Amino acid sequence: MNVLVLGKPEYSEYITSLGYGLTLDYVDAIAIVSDSTNIQAVPASDKPLAIILNGSIADWPAKQRHPEAYFVKSISDVGEWLKKQQPVIQEQPAQCDRLLILTHSNKGGVGKTSTAIALAEVLSQKTKTVLCDFDYTAPDIGTFYSLKPENYFETGVRPSQVTNNLYVLPAPKNIIPGTLKEEQVYNVVQQLSDFQIIIGDTSPAPWDKPYLHKLFSHCDLVYSIVDQSLFSMEETKRFAPTLIAMGVAPENIKIIVNKYSPRQASIKSIEQAFCAGFKKGAPMPKIAALIPEDWESQLKAAYQGKVLNKDIWEDVSKDIFNRLGLEYAEITSPPPKRFLDILKRKKL
Ligand SMILES: Nc1ncnc2c1ncn2[C@@H]1O[C@H](COP(=O)(O)OP(=O)(O)OP(=O)(O)O)[C@@H](O)[C@H]1O
Ligand SMILES: [Mg+2]
Repeated sequence: MNVLVLGKPEYSEYITSLGYGLTLDYVDAIAIVSDSTNIQAVPASDKPLAIILNGSIADWPAKQRHPEAYFVKSISDVGEWLKKQQPVIQEQPAQCDRLLILTHSNKGGVGKTSTAIALAEVLSQKTKTVLCDFDYTAPDIGTFYSLKPENYFETGVRPSQVTNNLYVLPAPKNIIPGTLKEEQVYNVVQQLSDFQIIIGDTSPAPWDKPYLHKLFSHCDLVYSIVDQSLFSMEETKRFAPTLIAMGVAPENIKIIVNKYSPRQASIKSIEQAFCAGFKKGAPMPKIAALIPEDWESQLKAAYQGKVLNKDIWEDVSKDIFNRLGLEYAEITSPPPKRFLDILKRKKL
């Protein structure tokens, strides 16, 4: 069992004397121990955190930034606490040949489309992936890839190839979403049997849109996007009943905290708010990623057709590859240039 230790060498010595290993990667750590002076270097994660207060001015921002942490006065106070931090045993998800993955949020503008694009871009570096826009009320995927949408309910489903392994299906614009039937929408997915991964971007509050229900009840993974605003925290408490009502199992839900700032509400409280509506004892949805708030860079990246935080999304994709029974390996070759992609675009 490894611990990520930040601060004086004597902290590491103490932790190893207790029989723990040391790691620099928080993913491998059962807990993080830092003194308040090194708090800036603590990675954003949901790992248990102990902070050694050293009586300096650095203690105050450390408390502000990580109110959920376990605070101690010296490294020797950490031993008992560490004993209680058991490694999280991840249940092995059942493996499948193909995956239908959906974005979700009851709120608008939290980052569903940004998440769908980022996941599709990263996953398609290894697997044949199609990104579908199921947000018929405000379709954005076609805009991002500069693709002209077709009414595929009439013409048939023909995604456009944008890179070697990435295909995109923009949502038709000239339809009245309320007239769609859930069978019609689910039929779109059934026509995409060529793809190992289908990523579907959806509208806010899908519970109010019965034509999306069958998609949710038949999907393998839901990435539910939340931010740290007061409103989002309150609304998050009501996510569970609607997801359950649409037939989504809690173990197939992952939380993405988008527009994340360590100065705002703690991630533990977000997870608690999200899980409030689920039956206790069952496996609860967990936070899969914290995507930093960076309004200007996100805006610029969208105009340039780029995805930010690829390293974080690659981490998220490990779980997805795992479900497909694929070994995750670092992607070494750079993705093709966007300009060339545009020239290469062709219909299936
Ligand atoms: N991490 C981030 N930091 C700052 N801004 C972000 C971040 N992620 C997304 N945004 C911005 O937030 C806005 C909304 O993002 P996006 O369109 O992905 O949300 P959405 O949930 O799909 O919205 P809608 O409900 O309208 O479909 C965009 O302008 C995007 O650039
Ligand atoms: Mg959207």
